[in-house]
Amino acid sequence: MSSIVLFGPPGAGKGTQAQRITEETGLPQVSTGDMLRAAVAAKTTTGLAAKSFMDAGQLVPDEIIIALIEQRIKDDDAKKGVMYDGFPRTIPQAEALAKIDQISHVIAIEVPDERIVERICGRYTCGDCSAVYHDSFNPTSKEGICDSCQSTNFKRRADDNADTVLARLSAYHEQTSPLATWYDERGVFFGVDGDRNIPDITSDILHILVK
Ligand code: AP5
Repeated sequence: MSSIVLFGPPGAGKGTQAQRITEETGLPQVSTGDMLRAAVAAKTTTGLAAKSFMDAGQLVPDEIIIALIEQRIKDDDAKKGVMYDGFPRTIPQAEALAKIDQISHVIAIEVPDERIVERICGRYTCGDCSAVYHDSFNPTSKEGICDSCQSTNFKRRADDNADTVLARLSAYHEQTSPLATWYDERGVFFGVDGDRNIPDITSDILHILVK
């Protein structure tokens, strides 16, 4: 089994690229953010424990996240590897992952902080298939209709507001960005310029993955 990690600050485009790369590689997207939001909506023990951290833009404690991942990669669709989106986010999470999965590539989508707030505050997603859009940068082709599944049901995330974004950026710089050096030392870290149009970034990522 060999998996890849999509790495980067909030709003860098990890989810957007994951959906496009899944189509090309067949690797299932494993997003800890999506898993946590589902747990919050279902009011599970995990969701109840995670909600206050997410609302404040802070990282959810490592033991909760690691337990979620350990369970998820037992699923049949994960046997040939997965694409982690938003995980790992701390050195202890990376150390736990190294014990249960082999990582061939960590792709860092690099976007300057000043772009992040405008990206996150304009984001909306399809409530049925989770396709990600943006009011200005990546709207649906036909207004109000999802390109992927033709749904008209869209939603915005509770933590997508300017105050929480700043807390999420701060958590990224303090707790997550040290992972870049950690993975670079292991020879699997690759950076891509994420401040360009979406298809060009996908093309760069796919090019890196065949190296
Ligand atoms: P999570 O859901 O992982 O959020 P995040 O990392 O903050 O990342 P986002 O989903 O906000 O952004 P993205 O990089 O996927 O960007 P997107 O493609 O949507 O985590 C949420 C919370 O859960 C965390 O704050 C934490 O509390 C908790 N959590 C999750 N994982 C955890 C972990 N491992 N450990 C501890 N806690 C954890 O794009 C953003 C917008 O930009 C979209 O509108 C998109 O259309 C647009 N866009 C994308 N690419 C481009 C482009 N190239 N040009 C212009 N616009 C673009």
